[in-house]
Amino acid sequence: MGYEIKTTIDTNKCTGCGKCVAVCPYDAIEIIDKKAIVTGPKSMHCGQCVAVCPENAVKVADIIVPRLKGTTTEETEQLFNTVMYRRSCRDYRPEELSATEFENLIAFAQWAPSGTNAQKWEFTVMPTRAAVENYAQAISGFYRKLNRQAENPFLRLFTKVFMGDVLGKYYARYYNQVADSLRRWDENREDLLFHGATGAIVISMRPGAHCAHDDALLAAQNICLGAHTMGIGSCLIGFAVEAMKRDPEIAKVVGIPAEETVYAVIALGYPKYRYPNPSGRFPVTARYLNV
Ligand SMILES: Cc1cc2nc3c(=O)[nH]c(=O)nc-3n(C[C@H](O)[C@H](O)[C@H](O)COP(=O)(O)O)c2cc1C
Repeated sequence: MGYEIKTTIDTNKCTGCGKCVAVCPYDAIEIIDKKAIVTGPKSMHCGQCVAVCPENAVKVADIIVPRLKGTTTEETEQLFNTVMYRRSCRDYRPEELSATEFENLIAFAQWAPSGTNAQKWEFTVMPTRAAVENYAQAISGFYRKLNRQAENPFLRLFTKVFMGDVLGKYYARYYNQVADSLRRWDENREDLLFHGATGAIVISMRPGAHCAHDDALLAAQNICLGAHTMGIGSCLIGFAVEAMKRDPEIAKVVGIPAEETVYAVIALGYPKYRYPNPSGRFPVTARYLNV
């Protein structure tokens, strides 16, 4: 599945409310003459536009809505709905979460399974928009430097010869997206990294966990699902994790000790939009091994 656009909008149903425009992570939709029109070249088929549309006007070809089959309990249905309706939130209202809400999210995380029950996780909370911006500033410093390196063709060639093609691959895949995000931040404080979140939780692991990455991501998933049930939006921010892996100075800015490794960063806040529909997923066919 590539990035080609497979989104269509029924203009008879579309009221031009603009919600699909706001939630599309690839800016692929615009309002033209009071109707949403797909104009962008790329999509990751996340179905945010489908999920947010109150008129059911948007379709993304090739994605389906996996659902439970057969007779299930109320508890199963409730959990399934939480899993199915949780979305990565990229538009937040300005109100900040309470200390209790953060504590409750961490309680969700603590119930995650962990390899050999290590529970080596640590949670660093950015409880205000100001704290998130301070953190984002440190991360953007890393990407500014990386983009400066990547735009240098000699450096790309040098690193290709001596370190594999890491910089060249970054240049091809992310350079333009990052440059655009930095420009939009500088020009009008548009936050394409944390999407205007008013809070964040960083999950790091102390040394000694056998399955540190798995433990952290399971804890992160518990936070995202718990947040959804509490009316809180969440979004994993892989760009922040990558930056922290490569630049230890960022951990210092947010007070994470050097011996800890960061595996997950979650943007949090109250969502600006409701998602009345499920989004969608690529179809899968499970293999059954009958013996
Ligand atoms: C490991 C990981 C890293 C992610 N990093 C980002 C990110 O940096 N920025 C972002 O907007 N979304 C990020 N996402 C969210 C995905 O884009 C999202 O989960 C996917 O499009 C499916 O949409 P849904 O979460 O609404 O179902 C990340 C998700 C995962 C699992």
